[in-house]
Amino acid sequence: MKELFPGLRQVARVPSDGRSSTIFIVGEGKTIAAIDCGPAQYYQTLKDELGDEGVDLSALTDIFVTHGHSDHYEAAALFRRDGYTPNVHVGELDRYAVETGDYFGTAGFFYRQHTLPVPETLSIGDGYVESFGKVAVRAFEIPSHTMGSIAYVVENDGLKVGILGDAAWGGWHPLIGSDLDKWEESIEMVQSLDLTHVSFGHGPTELIAAKSHLRKLRRQIGKYANAYDILPPINFDQNTAEPAYEYTAV
Ligand SMILES: [Fe+2]
Repeated sequence: MKELFPGLRQVARVPSDGRSSTIFIVGEGKTIAAIDCGPAQYYQTLKDELGDEGVDLSALTDIFVTHGHSDHYEAAALFRRDGYTPNVHVGELDRYAVETGDYFGTAGFFYRQHTLPVPETLSIGDGYVESFGKVAVRAFEIPSHTMGSIAYVVENDGLKVGILGDAAWGGWHPLIGSDLDKWEESIEMVQSLDLTHVSFGHGPTELIAAKSHLRKLRRQIGKYANAYDILPPINFDQNTAEPAYEYTAV
């Protein structure tokens, strides 16, 4: 893992590519939280990295989900399977998809994989704040890439980092509930938070200067093409059929 600042580390072994999100660990010691935890297929890699770095998984009390796409949170189902009991926090409008493993709502169709459901999530939104050691996590609703997207702001040592998931650089499509008008309003709100840095949902293991990135992002909104390239057929049966379309990872 890479320490971004005391109390905020970024997982390094799980590749932050088209299949897995960036994963952050907040706090140290007896109470820690994850911000996103990646898809099921990288669960073992994530567990191995955390174990090798001395993270006690029984101290993982909370998983904060940036949005309800499987590449960002599906491993939570396997933490639960293995007897860990973290609270899983999801923006209200993404909860249905997460709790049911909805093939479209969780962007399962993008990966041509069914998504493991994660039932009994907790709704998170504006005003939520929780401390993990000396570091606080604050939640802000940012409808954008999905309607239930959440920004998590983590602050310490003069740095104020906004973890924005795919709202910081992600695909737009009605099938996943994206809304460009709300997206622009959300980024305007994020600009008012006076962040020093932001992080992408699929970015490098480093922090990115906030002001210039957010300006660039606002310019880019409205220019997004269909990130999923080719849509599944209208009568596609998610229970029986293999999608017969190709996709391009973003
Ligand atoms: Fe996403």
